[in-house]
Amino acid sequence: MTTASMYADFARREARGVSPTYERLSFAISADEEILTLLRTVPKPKRQPNLLLGVVRLLGGPVDDPAAFHDFTVSNWPAVAAELRTRATQTNEAGRCALLLPVLAMLPQPLALLEVGAAAGLGLYPDRYFYRYDDREIGSSGPILECTLTGTTPPTRLPEVTWRAGLDLHPLDVTDPADVAWLEALIWPEHHHRRDRLRAAAAIAAADPPTLHHGDLVDDLPRLAAQAPADATLVVFHTSVLYQVPTERRTLFVDLVRELPGHWIAVEAPDVLSYEGLPPAPDKALHNVLALDGTPLAWTRGHGQAMAWLA
Ligand SMILES: C[S@@+](CC[C@H](N)C(=O)[O-])C[C@H]1O[C@@H](n2cnc3c(N)ncnc32)[C@H](O)[C@@H]1O
Repeated sequence: MTTASMYADFARREARGVSPTYERLSFAISADEEILTLLRTVPKPKRQPNLLLGVVRLLGGPVDDPAAFHDFTVSNWPAVAAELRTRATQTNEAGRCALLLPVLAMLPQPLALLEVGAAAGLGLYPDRYFYRYDDREIGSSGPILECTLTGTTPPTRLPEVTWRAGLDLHPLDVTDPADVAWLEALIWPEHHHRRDRLRAAAAIAAADPPTLHHGDLVDDLPRLAAQAPADATLVVFHTSVLYQVPTERRTLFVDLVRELPGHWIAVEAPDVLSYEGLPPAPDKALHNVLALDGTPLAWTRGHGQAMAWLA
């Protein structure tokens, strides 16, 4: 796929109906020869729309007006290119804890949580957020995570977490304003509620910062899992991570995680982690699958807004 078609495709398939600002801008970039030529000077994985748009916003550039975006990007290209080369898309969405909670609540407590692809570790605090599953609420503080749940009853307890650790190729630090600014820049312009949620979740994490290890989900997982306390149920989990991992590494990871003691929770798109006999999604907005120990349990929405339990 050419860079131009990647931007047009992003506009049509991802931004349309979700972010009019990014839809308009991505179409404009797809026809902007000057920006496309500049993008070709960075490695291919660094040309992707979410990364460029996030970097320009991080640097204070405008995204509302394609002409102003063009002028800013061209005249600040050395700074834009430097950020593209060092950063990766690491959207950290605390809302995904609403997808994990029904499973975490049913496991033997207490839990030792180990998140792979943890980014800033906001997924490591499922016991400290407030959840609203339609008209049922659970929790006492923190950001409100709303999730429409069908096909099962909402959880009635929060998990008891005695140990939490994260693993990431590039861990982000919630106590570092520059890292939080990057997380904010990754949230699409119109998604104000997600920005508020990020700030609230980051405040919770910053009050008791997670232990995040710099490492790879295959090479470094066994060593970290071995540090979990033996008197808690080890839960290795990941949400929206494996699409960033090459296919053969994904297979190695799955083989590895199955060998570990405890449980494995995955929330991933079925084209990166597939399941035999998976029934079709009841709604095309439900495009990820929640699974426990390799068994699919529910179709889920990307940011944790909804889940439909499998019959
Ligand atoms: C899209 S972010 C999702 C973050 C978090 N799981 C969430 O749902 O909010 C994917 C994360 O996976 C990390 N990642 C990608 N490949 C990895 C690997 N091989 N080992 C460890 N982390 C990886 C990235 O650095 C990034 O922080």
